[in-house]
Amino acid sequence: MKEIILKIDGKEVKGKEGDTILDVCKANGIYIPTLCYLEGLTPYGGCRLCVVEIEGEKKLHTACTYPAKNGLIVKTNTEMLNNYRKKIIELLFAEKNHYCMFCEKSGNCELQELAYKFKLYNLSLPMLNPKLHVDATGKYFAIDHNRCVLCSRCIRACDEIVGLHVLDFSERGNRTFVAADFKDPIGNSSCIECGLCMQVCPTGAIFDKVSSYKFNVNECQKITTVCQQCSIGCPITLFIKDGKILRCEGVDLRNPKVQLCRVGRFDILYRNNIRILTPMIRKNGKLKKCSIEEALTLIIDKINSLTNKKNILCLISGIYPNNILEAFVKFAIETLGSIYVDSTDGYWCRVISQSLRTSPRNVECQIEDIQKADCILIVDVNFKVQNPLHSLVRKAARFNNAKVIFIGSAENHFVNIADIWIKTDSSIENRLLEILLNAINGDEKELKHPKITYEKPEDLHLAANLVNKAKHCIIVYGENLVKLGGTKTVNLIYETARKHDNINVVPLGPYLNSMDAQRFKIVNNLGFTNYNEVELAYLLLGDDDSFILPKFIEPNFLIVQSAYYSKIAMMADLIIPATTWLERDEKVKNLEKPHGIIDEKSFITKLLIKLTGNSLDEQIKREVKK
Ligand code: SF4
Ligand code: SF4
Ligand code: SF4
Ligand code: FES
Repeated sequence: MKEIILKIDGKEVKGKEGDTILDVCKANGIYIPTLCYLEGLTPYGGCRLCVVEIEGEKKLHTACTYPAKNGLIVKTNTEMLNNYRKKIIELLFAEKNHYCMFCEKSGNCELQELAYKFKLYNLSLPMLNPKLHVDATGKYFAIDHNRCVLCSRCIRACDEIVGLHVLDFSERGNRTFVAADFKDPIGNSSCIECGLCMQVCPTGAIFDKVSSYKFNVNECQKITTVCQQCSIGCPITLFIKDGKILRCEGVDLRNPKVQLCRVGRFDILYRNNIRILTPMIRKNGKLKKCSIEEALTLIIDKINSLTNKKNILCLISGIYPNNILEAFVKFAIETLGSIYVDSTDGYWCRVISQSLRTSPRNVECQIEDIQKADCILIVDVNFKVQNPLHSLVRKAARFNNAKVIFIGSAENHFVNIADIWIKTDSSIENRLLEILLNAINGDEKELKHPKITYEKPEDLHLAANLVNKAKHCIIVYGENLVKLGGTKTVNLIYETARKHDNINVVPLGPYLNSMDAQRFKIVNNLGFTNYNEVELAYLLLGDDDSFILPKFIEPNFLIVQSAYYSKIAMMADLIIPATTWLERDEKVKNLEKPHGIIDEKSFITKLLIKLTGNSLDEQIKREVKK
């Protein structure tokens, strides 16, 4: 980008063509107060706090919207400008209810900070306080319209980043407020509770129901990590005080994954699953507390009593990071030599990797690429989470005029924006997709003479035309499709993408680390043959509390290592506590972990020491040597 030179406050500074005056000032460390501006949102020029004087201009201009040009002479810090700014802040305070002492945001409010900065110690104007309503109908956050400064950051974030445009201004004058849909209560509106509007609000107008008034953000430790609650892996900042997570925020509005979903932003704060805190042994049908030492001894005794250690079923969740996958490999594969080793989502990994192997062109693309697509075919995705996916699709539809084809049964957010909704129940989703993919590949036999009943076959025809005409089509498919259609359907997706340069694929897996379990050779590529031989099963599940063992596997002794009580934990003969994903993250270590919970790696190391008779020193030496 071409360089430009401006004179700001008497100094020559450099900027780039396309910058605003504010961009140049920020890049050169020149402070200009802002309120409605937020990096990552389209500048709005609404609050007028960023006004500057420009030589040759007869009025003040907003730096956040004014384009910087070569040779421009700008003043940002004159008495006149600062008096003007102070007056705006005073007007904002007088217009609504800004009694900071009772406000959740006090101490972390951008308006309050500006008032201190401009020495606004008292008001010369009467406070209007129009007594607007407080909307507390949403599950996770409330909106107090009396604290709103009408900066529109929430409106722009919901529109430009989430792609929904739930919010907009309503009414006029000092009765203006941010309304959802047709002035609906937020809890009954089209809001998907992602909470991004709350994150960007500079004042106490939108606040979290669970953590409000409980902490001051400035006293919190902030840790940025990756949310591991679905396969998308959004960057996330955790606000932690006294070992408790009090708030979760998305990172950087310019990142398409900034819009956390309801699960990412709020579930950690609301999660009330009962934690497993001590090992428990089943005696006479009842689970009884025991020590880690007793649990370890029992496992070793059980293993040693087996006729064949190869018949131990060892399953690990794809939610685990690599260091635990590694320890698991050492235990299950290298030491026990078990032939029944797998990850809990092994079926998914097997199908995907097999399909990828047959594909010479790398047809997979990043989820971020969706926003650049002009056609998106979505099949069977989990619509309760994965909000970044929703917003990327919505943005592609709105800003790129992308055609959206949705195959699925459930009513969800895609249905409203789909150009074609192939409405079906989940039992034939994969078959309809196969018919569509064959038609895209030029084979219309089944489209013309369908063997299954579908009420609108013309939709499939239209959908095939849209995909074929697209410059860049992305097929997004979810975990259930893999279960339902197996290798046949998934192979056909990749085969189709291989044949058509305009098609790419985004698979949405169950967990963030699913494919690494495959890389560590944990995922059994052959599948198991004789489950009757399984005598003992060790399931390392962590916080993956939805896993259940298939009915046909009936081990004599079941060990479940899990963070929470779950259906499968309650069936176990031995329960061992486990960490949650937050406790496993190196950076977040020990913040949540209840006292006494042994982490999985240490537990497996202890097992190995007992099993092999090698001391910890020897284990470490071997590891270093390796
Ligand atoms: S929104 Fe800010 S300025 Fe208004 S009362 Fe709350 S802390 Fe004070
Ligand atoms: S929570 Fe999300 S969807 Fe709902 S209004 Fe706010 S930004 Fe929009
Ligand atoms: S609710 Fe917050 S973000 Fe929205 S306009 Fe009001 S002050 Fe700005
Ligand atoms: S920050 Fe520029 S007008 Fe509000």
